[in-house]
Amino acid sequence: MGCCSPPGAMVLLLPLVVLLAACRPGHGYSSNCDYVLESRVVIGANDLTHLGQEVEVHTIRRAILHEYFNNKTMINDIALLELDRPVHCSYYIQLACVPDASLRVSELTDCYVSGWGHMGMRSAAPVQTAEVLQEAKVHLLNLNLCNSSHWYAGVLHTHNVCAGYPQGGIDTCQGDSGGPLMCKDKTADYFWLIGVTSWGRGCGRIQQPGVYASTQYFRNWILVQMGLLPAEAPTSTPYPVYVSTSYQRPKPTYSSPFRPCPFPRQKVLDFFNLLQELLQGLRGKKA
Ligand SMILES: *[C@@H]1O[C@H](CO)[C@@H](O)[C@H](O)[C@H]1NC(C)=O
Ligand SMILES: *[C@@H]1O[C@H](CO)[C@@H](O)[C@H](O)[C@H]1NC(C)=O
Repeated sequence: MGCCSPPGAMVLLLPLVVLLAACRPGHGYSSNCDYVLESRVVIGANDLTHLGQEVEVHTIRRAILHEYFNNKTMINDIALLELDRPVHCSYYIQLACVPDASLRVSELTDCYVSGWGHMGMRSAAPVQTAEVLQEAKVHLLNLNLCNSSHWYAGVLHTHNVCAGYPQGGIDTCQGDSGGPLMCKDKTADYFWLIGVTSWGRGCGRIQQPGVYASTQYFRNWILVQMGLLPAEAPTSTPYPVYVSTSYQRPKPTYSSPFRPCPFPRQKVLDFFNLLQELLQGLRGKKA
């Protein structure tokens, strides 16, 4: 079975790469994203001090930020990057699937987060970021519980996913933003991209788990950006699209020349080494 064709209809995320969040924390998207187009996307990396042959370096053609992102409420904290060319899948680089509405996400139990962000409970100095990609197993937590008074006290949105541990200890932290929250399918040998690391209060605190943007919630938005779904309201305000010079958005094509890569045997997680370089410091509000 190919990656993104399990029963239930999937989307292939090539050559767009689902990414993260909202440019720099604490800033509006409109002012601080120019740097994105000058950034490079390093895919397939593990140890940032020793990038090997398996690494692919890409430039970014477009960075599409959600039109209704709000830097105060962290609503709609998601963006999509279109890369210069397709990514070649390998032992180190694999795809994960964005779930449609039919997947019962809360039933998934084998879930992981990863990143090169800060290690340790506090993001205060001395800052310790990881050279080697870190990965942790987390639990998906009930959103109502997570939004309750002793937890996040009402600041969460329906498009959030909470993951971590009620007692804290294991969590994403500053610099992990934009990274994946992924869960293995209940029966098959592939992973779902469930969330994109967004924010949290501190790191690893009791009842303050990581907050993620739900890719299931934003699936249609992603498809629209990729030209795979018509926009529902064509007259709405244009998306703030940052386009590198002389690139025209392609017409939607349904016969993509990009072949899906066969799905992962083991090293699925390495795929997500995406962009973390770019994302350093992106985990907004992780003070
Ligand atoms: C949020 O975005 C607005 C509009 O882009 C900007 O003026 C403001 O400074 C940002 N707020 C913070 C806290 O950075
Ligand atoms: C979280 O709680 C606030 C306040 O009760 C509410 O407005 C908001 O809709 C809740 N979010 C979710 C995802 O239920």
